[in-house]
Amino acid sequence: MDFNLTEEQIMIRDAARDFAKNELLPGVIERDEKQIFPHEQIKKMGELGFMGMMTDPEYGGGGMDTISYVLAMEEISKIDASASVVMSVNNSLVCWGLETYGTEAQKQKYLVPLATGEIIGAFCLSEPEAGSDATSQKTTAIDKGDHYLVNGTKNWITNGNNASVYLVICQTHPEKGHKGINALIIEKGAEGFVVGPKENKLGIRGSDTHSLMFNDVKVPKENRIGEDGFGFTFAMKTLAGGRIGIASQALGIASGAYELALQYSKERKAFGKEISKHQAIAFKLADMATEIEVARLLCFRAAWDKDNKKDYTQSGAMAKLYAAEMAMRNTVEAVQIHGGYGFVKEYHVERLMRDAKITQIYEGTSEIQKIVISRALLK
Ligand code: CAA
Repeated sequence: MDFNLTEEQIMIRDAARDFAKNELLPGVIERDEKQIFPHEQIKKMGELGFMGMMTDPEYGGGGMDTISYVLAMEEISKIDASASVVMSVNNSLVCWGLETYGTEAQKQKYLVPLATGEIIGAFCLSEPEAGSDATSQKTTAIDKGDHYLVNGTKNWITNGNNASVYLVICQTHPEKGHKGINALIIEKGAEGFVVGPKENKLGIRGSDTHSLMFNDVKVPKENRIGEDGFGFTFAMKTLAGGRIGIASQALGIASGAYELALQYSKERKAFGKEISKHQAIAFKLADMATEIEVARLLCFRAAWDKDNKKDYTQSGAMAKLYAAEMAMRNTVEAVQIHGGYGFVKEYHVERLMRDAKITQIYEGTSEIQKIVISRALLK
């Protein structure tokens, strides 16, 4: 087993690290506080190839492997998890979904600008009454011959207002249950498509999360992804890879908080010595570093499965489950190590602690990951 990264992977990791330090760190506290979307930063991330990392260069992507994606996601998430969720949704859910299942025309029209970062995309599955229970889609797409007529509401949509292209999961044949669901590409500005107000969130406040309303939106048939009724499988397959992205985000949030706690503990003195020299803190650091390494290995394992064309549903769910729970635990510890300073914004760890929480919820809660893992085990 070779644990060495390739020269290319190291280069990508270092480029993401430099970008995060130089371009994302300045202003990250203000963007969080005032809920400002990182427009300029996302544009630059597109120019650097971070918005379509794994997409084939033929469609404007970087053609990189999933290990490189995990490395870049970790580095970006250490500093700004709001920017990394935009990156994760665009890469894993939107670009991957279109590249794997889209028609050539859909790829030329939508994937190319998405992979180059010229525009960003959104993935719309959750509804007011269908979050974890994803088969219970209430948004309908009625077949009208040459087009679908879409009606319904989607909730908690990342990139809700800033996206230009939306992959929307809708029910076409309710009598067929999940086999009657379709995934449709809907463009911003389509008549009857309304973006609701922005959610005021606990964490990842720089990213925009909205409800979306569809009122008799006409969607041409050529915008359906895959065969009629493929939508639920599309969503599940896409989310399986998305979970590797969110696992890497959780990993980055935890390792960012750990690095800050380590540095602080070596500078802060109490009872006559640096607090890192007190066993109470040293043991916390040891636990944090160990858990972060476990999460990193799980992310690499899932990424390796994906790159080697193996089934990554279980390994991706394991990575996400562990990394998200670990990120929550360890960001709380990072605040604790900082003491009173940890409770104020200037020290960054309180933001990372708030950001960690969503990784236990989106792209499937921790409980959903356990369903996915246990079903794979018991199959
Ligand atoms: N790949 C392919 N097919 C899959 C699959 C997978 N990973 N998982 C399930 N399926 C298929 C099943 O085989 C089954 O098909 P058949 O009937 O033909 O065999 C079908 O899908 C239904 O599966 P289940 O019977 O297992 O369905 P279920 O109702 O028990 O639910 C679930 C399964 C795993 C819990 C699923 O509902 C789920 O993943 N829920 C969570 C949804 C989620 O992650 N939402 C997050 C929203 S997206 C987001 O957060 C993006 C963002 O903005 C950041």
